[in-house]
Amino acid sequence: MFTYDEHTRLFWFNSSSFENEGQYTLIGIVLGLAIYNNCILDVHFPMVVYRKLMGKKGTFRDLADANPSLKELLEYEGNVEEDMMITFQISQTDPFGNRLMYDLRENGDRIPVTNDNRKEFVALYSEYMLNKSVEKQFKAFRRGFHMVTNESPLKYLFRPEEIELLICGSRVRSVNIHQNSFSLEFWETLHSFSEEQKRLFLQFTTGTDRAPVGGLGKLKMIIAKNGPDTDR
Ligand SMILES: *[C@@H]1O[C@H](CO)[C@@H](O)[C@H](O)[C@H]1NC(C)=O
Ligand SMILES: *[C@@H]1O[C@H](CO)[C@@H](O)[C@H](O)[C@H]1NC(C)=O
Repeated sequence: MFTYDEHTRLFWFNSSSFENEGQYTLIGIVLGLAIYNNCILDVHFPMVVYRKLMGKKGTFRDLADANPSLKELLEYEGNVEEDMMITFQISQTDPFGNRLMYDLRENGDRIPVTNDNRKEFVALYSEYMLNKSVEKQFKAFRRGFHMVTNESPLKYLFRPEEIELLICGSRVRSVNIHQNSFSLEFWETLHSFSEEQKRLFLQFTTGTDRAPVGGLGKLKMIIAKNGPDTDR
């Protein structure tokens, strides 16, 4: 249902997924429920997803990380038309390996991208990648999200960055696990862990290596024996 970008380590909607819209709605519901129930999820979407959920639109800047060639195109100092030889027609590969052509403008294959119209190309390309090509999937996803968060003041109170924070927690740079959350013995063991081990511990116990809003002190953790007749 989603594609994964190794470079940015983010997910995006798979525009050629065979899954029905109900599945995307379900994922949207899960994200909404995560906010509602104060859960942190280990899902990483680009910021533009949250911006779109808040009713804003994606722009070229949202693609800049995943697609550096767009920036190159905009900043290229030579003759774009002669050196790059691209047109307003783009190609994509469908699940069966077929190349599909899409015209960003009517008869796009016959309109070369030039120094003068490259801004328009980038705008149309971004609109296609961030909106049109995944419109069906995103709409279903958003429907699910709003089912849970509807009539909540989410949209008015939070910026997209803050919604991401609510869903994914904050990136943990160095893991400081506070003593008051744990028993002393346990704390000592944790304290002896390397940063990497602490991160893995967090991942193992909470399902994500990110800390909840308010910091790790907000984690409620119960350490119990694995049954009455064992030392584990
Ligand atoms: C997108 O979905 C199609 C159909 O299920 C699948 O064949 C393809 O591999 C997916 N693309 C990615 C990048 O995962
Ligand atoms: C997204 O694309 C659809 C057409 O496919 C269009 O109606 C809609 O206005 C676009 N949304 C934005 C935010 O540009």
